[in-house]
Amino acid sequence: MIFKKVAVLFTFVFFVFCDAGFVDNLPKCHLKDNECLRDLYESVIRDIGKHGIPDLNIPPVDPIRLTNVTVSVLNVVNITMIEGVAKGIKDCLFEKFSINITSEIGHQENTCDLTIKGHYKVDTTSSLAENLLGGMSVHGDGNGKVKIDKLHLKFDFPFYAQRRDDGEIYIKCIYDLIKYDYEFGGKVSFFADNLYVGEQEISTPIIAMLNENWRFVMSGFGQPFVDKAMEFYFRFAGYFFDNVPARYYIIDDLSPYAKP
Ligand SMILES: *[C@@H]1O[C@H](CO)[C@@H](O)[C@H](O)[C@H]1NC(C)=O
Ligand SMILES: *[C@@H]1O[C@H](CO)[C@@H](O)[C@H](O)[C@H]1NC(C)=O
Ligand SMILES: *[C@@H]1O[C@H](CO)[C@@H](O)[C@H](O)[C@H]1NC(C)=O
Repeated sequence: MIFKKVAVLFTFVFFVFCDAGFVDNLPKCHLKDNECLRDLYESVIRDIGKHGIPDLNIPPVDPIRLTNVTVSVLNVVNITMIEGVAKGIKDCLFEKFSINITSEIGHQENTCDLTIKGHYKVDTTSSLAENLLGGMSVHGDGNGKVKIDKLHLKFDFPFYAQRRDDGEIYIKCIYDLIKYDYEFGGKVSFFADNLYVGEQEISTPIIAMLNENWRFVMSGFGQPFVDKAMEFYFRFAGYFFDNVPARYYIIDDLSPYAKP
């Protein structure tokens, strides 16, 4: 997955990172102090989102640039963001954050307003879509936008205290096993132009239909989009946890829990 590559990419710059002052100024928390951990997590995400980590030439990551990111819906429709941006993560409300070192499960909850927009492309090649539409293909290539208000997210993320070759202990999140749940506290709205069935431009009625039925649309087809969004969300977290030894932000001694 994408954030894994990012994590690998940034691991090697860690030593510079240590000198940068950023880590020395982090709040330090006890494992049991959920309020402190929440504040820590919020300030880290805000900081990386707004300023990046200049000493390491990591640019601000909110907005996130999206290039050729494809989401496949039911293997029938591929929607690709050819060139676009997603924004809003740094301004999420971080409501809960806790980590249980014994069960090796962390939990977080937040609420976010997210906007994704840019140059999109839609392809349908499956015979299903063509059969339904009498052989006409649905295709589009234009400007698109999705705005999600108050997306409430809950995550359980397995992790362990990882001792690395440098002797440091890190909170190592197991990204593939993250479980999450979400609900829409607000509305989802769509915009797109240049959407066609066969030769006919249909973006106005289609977008009106999607907007009127956004709840149905998201419950039926929203999952792959939210999955993709999660992948990006955890990049943020990864910048931090994969690069900063736990002793810079956790007061408790993690060595009894550490594993290779
Ligand atoms: C995105 O895809 C298009 C079309 O396949 C290609 O021309 C372009 O180079 C790609 N951009 C990047 C950054 O990979
Ligand atoms: C952590 O998890 C363990 C094992 O599931 C449980 O017994 C313990 O109460 C949890 N601790 C906290 C602080 O929730
Ligand atoms: C969607 O993309 C996948 C992977 O890029 C490809 O294998 C599939 O044929 C595409 N489907 C459509 C409907 O374009």
